[in-house]
Amino acid sequence: MDVKNKLAIITGSSQGLGKAFAVELLKGGAFVCLSDVNTQIGEKALSELKERFGDDKVHFVECNVLKTEDINKLYEECENHFDKSVDIFCNNAGINHTKGWRLCMDIDIMAVMECTEYVLDKMDMRKGGKGGLIVNTASLAGICPGLSRESYSYYVAKHGVVTLTRTLGTVTMMRETGVKVQCICPSFDDTDIMKVDNPNKEFEVAVKKFGVMTPEYVAQAFFKLVTRCGTGDAMIVLKDVPPFIYTDYSREWTFVLSAGSKLAHSVFGVDLFTPKLQMLFLFVVFIVIHFVLCLLF
Ligand SMILES: NC(=O)c1ccc[n+]([C@@H]2O[C@H](COP(=O)([O-])OP(=O)(O)OC[C@H]3O[C@@H](n4cnc5c(N)ncnc54)[C@H](O)[C@@H]3O)[C@@H](O)[C@H]2O)c1
Repeated sequence: MDVKNKLAIITGSSQGLGKAFAVELLKGGAFVCLSDVNTQIGEKALSELKERFGDDKVHFVECNVLKTEDINKLYEECENHFDKSVDIFCNNAGINHTKGWRLCMDIDIMAVMECTEYVLDKMDMRKGGKGGLIVNTASLAGICPGLSRESYSYYVAKHGVVTLTRTLGTVTMMRETGVKVQCICPSFDDTDIMKVDNPNKEFEVAVKKFGVMTPEYVAQAFFKLVTRCGTGDAMIVLKDVPPFIYTDYSREWTFVLSAGSKLAHSVFGVDLFTPKLQMLFLFVVFIVIHFVLCLLF
């Protein structure tokens, strides 16, 4: 999508990744509506970005994504202010697990679903909308399993965000609604969400292993996702690695394993196709393919 003159809303964009995403969109010529539950830093970000990109380019609306009326107000106030319809909606607001698993789930997945439902209704071409783009800030935590007992809710929520993206981001659904859905999955970034009192060893080891990225670095990948990638795409962003789309092969993999399980059962009487047997099966398949190719060429 060419973002020039498009209108974007970003939740939780007073600081951190959301604010950096706003800067990239503004640099690309978009109009941006910042929003956050924290109005103090929100107003500060607003005046900073107005000075940099012009008063008419950026606006701020207070919104707590936990409140349905705030979500409605955000969307309506944004459209009224800019006098045009929203083209891009970024579900970015998020917290870490430290305030408890229920609040983490409420903000990091339930509110994302609530905003998505609302935005899909507004943008759906079958309901009079003009289509658009929803970009979810997931995380590498939405791809990989969790690190510890304390933080599992964050991982569960972010896995939900990736699944939501892939489920609503099919080409069929996009043709019907005109709405693309994508997500970005960065590893650790230098933002407030990383501030965890008494971090456990697993967290510290992972941070050391993956390194910490700047929000600006992640935002450059975000811009590539928005402008160059397709619906359903989940983009992984790692330090010092060009961003890449993480394709989901779970359906194909299930098909391969079910064929292997049937074969192992019918030929060897195996009644449980364990990971070790699966490796053996794949090794045999690889050898067979190798010999067939040798015979052919
Ligand atoms: N920083 C990382 O390492 C990292 C990695 C992967 C994904 N993410 C995700 O990026 C997103 C942005 O986080 P960040 O890293 O910029 O952290 P951050 O803490 O700097 O920004 C999060 C923003 O969300 C706002 N927010 C929190 N609760 C809200 C609510 N109920 N309603 C509206 N706004 C609310 C906060 O006020 C804050 O401005 C989050 O979804 C986070 O899970 C962060």
